[in-house]
Amino acid sequence: DPALIADGEKVFRKCRACHEVGAGAKNKSGPQLNGVIGRTMGAVEDFRYSKGFEAAHDEGRIWDAASMAEFLAKPKDFMKGTKMSFAGLKKDADLEAIIAYLSSVGE
Ligand code: HEM
Repeated sequence: DPALIADGEKVFRKCRACHEVGAGAKNKSGPQLNGVIGRTMGAVEDFRYSKGFEAAHDEGRIWDAASMAEFLAKPKDFMKGTKMSFAGLKKDADLEAIIAYLSSVGE
C-alpha cells in the first residue's frame, strides 16, 4: 500500500539520527536497515551489537512483522540490555506504517 509506505517514511524520521536505508546505506550509531524484515537479527557484519542481539543472531531468529512490532513498541522490553536508546512507538498506526516502509526498502 503506497500510502502506508509514505506514512512509514515519515515515521522513519525518528530513526534517521541512528539508521540509514537505501543505496549505499551505512551504519551510524545503529546498523543499516536495508531488507531488515526477513533478515536474521543482529546480522550486519561490521556492526557491534549488544549481547542479546548476538545471541538472537546465533539462534537464527528472523525479523518478521510481529517481532518488529513488538521490538519497536518497547525496545528494552523486547531485548534486555539493547543499545538502542529509543523509547518506542506508541501508536499502532505508526507501527503498522513503519513496518510497511521497512518492508519496502530492499537489500
Ligand atoms: C537496532 C530499528 C530508532 C539505535 C535496531 C534494529 C532495528 C532498529 C530493526 C535491529 C537491527 C538488526 O537486527 O540488524 C529502528 C527503527 C527506529 C529506530 C525503525 C525508529 C522507529 C533508533 C534510534 C537510535 C537507534 C533513535 C539511536 C538513538 C540503534 C542501535 C541498535 C539498533 C544502537 C543496535 C541495538 C543493539 O545492539 O542492542 N534498530 N531503530 N535506533 N538501533 Fe534502532
